[in-house]
Amino acid sequence: MRIVLGVCGGVAAYKSALLLRLLTEAGHDVRVVPTRASSEFVGRATWEALSGHPVTADVFDDVPEVAHVRIGQSADLMIVAPATADLLARAAAGRADDLLAASLLMAHGPVVMAPAMHTEMWRHPATVANVATLRARGVHVLDPAVGRLTGPDSGPGRLPDPEQIAAYALALVDADGRARPQDLVGRRVVVSAGGTREALDPVRYLGNHSSGRQGIALATAAAARGAQVTLVAANVDLPVPTGVEVVPVGSGAQLREAVRAAGATADVVVMAAAVADFRPAASATAKIKKSADGAGLTLELVPTTDILAELGHDRLRADQVVVGFAAETGDAHGSVLDHGRAKALHKGADLLVVNAVGDGVGFGTPDNAVTVLDGAGEPVLAAEGSKESVAHAVWDAVVLRLRP
Ligand code: CTP
Repeated sequence: MRIVLGVCGGVAAYKSALLLRLLTEAGHDVRVVPTRASSEFVGRATWEALSGHPVTADVFDDVPEVAHVRIGQSADLMIVAPATADLLARAAAGRADDLLAASLLMAHGPVVMAPAMHTEMWRHPATVANVATLRARGVHVLDPAVGRLTGPDSGPGRLPDPEQIAAYALALVDADGRARPQDLVGRRVVVSAGGTREALDPVRYLGNHSSGRQGIALATAAAARGAQVTLVAANVDLPVPTGVEVVPVGSGAQLREAVRAAGATADVVVMAAAVADFRPAASATAKIKKSADGAGLTLELVPTTDILAELGHDRLRADQVVVGFAAETGDAHGSVLDHGRAKALHKGADLLVVNAVGDGVGFGTPDNAVTVLDGAGEPVLAAEGSKESVAHAVWDAVVLRLRP
């Protein structure tokens, strides 16, 4: 994919060197377009060395090539990081007073701006209005991260982590450089991901191998299609794109509570988490010791609430689309799909995404192969490939079921 990385003059400009690295290491062809002021912070040599392309900041450099036309036109994706208050103002006004601003006017793919500035500048009515104008035009203006700013003060204004910016921006475009459809704009989505842990005592738990990758891919894909996303993350240790609200949880009971709270106002709830079906009847308050005589230990387990079945049969909202996952292995009683069909009927969900697990398939791997069933157990689509492409296939099926 061809990416233009615009860099403005702010202390956070050095973080864009890391962002550039992430983008080129992911195999993308990146042209860096710095503003003049940014050279006060990071020099041209850094951008040229890391991108492997010559770098210019002025429309009058490289005139025969008409750089601003070529650079803007050829980009599948444009990212401005950090975006200063000045750049937001110039872009909102449609100015073309340097190569970056001119290239933005030529952009035909998605444009992501990652602002970084002092809190006062971010909250100034002029900046607020410029951000609103840009967002109304479809520019993806990220909310700055909250934390320590340059100097002793703190508040919203920090550049989000380069990993988070990259994850967000790259999700906006498919493998062929086409922009993702914006068919979830205005929708609220809740996705659960990861694997729950049920405490045995203060140091031990019953858990599972779920990495949370498929759930994160679903949350990322929904955000890329314009949804407001809450990710209820059970013991997940992977980067999540900026803009996705993360609610960390540990046990199934905590996951249930968080999903139901966020789900009350959601258009879609996706249960991609691997939730424990049983938990210890009691969690010991002190560490369980082994007995001196070498005797074994018998644990009493009690069933947990089936969160998906509860969401499916007793709807939080009448028009909510409820999506479940079914990780299955075939056995003497039936194939993966037979079990999936039975589960679709039993859970009351609108869609059930069935995948085969075991022997290294499904858990923790980058790829997945699924069949999506409707509530009656009938297949509506099959998808195979990266967890990202599977996630988009699931959203394609969801979008058809959303209330108008
Ligand atoms: N699920 C849930 N609450 C549980 C168990 C599972 O919400 N206590 C959800 C999962 O998030 C997933 C779906 O139910 O969307 C199916 O999970 P799976 O583990 O495949 O099935 P189970 O219902 O646990 O049935 P079984 O283990 O007997 O196959």
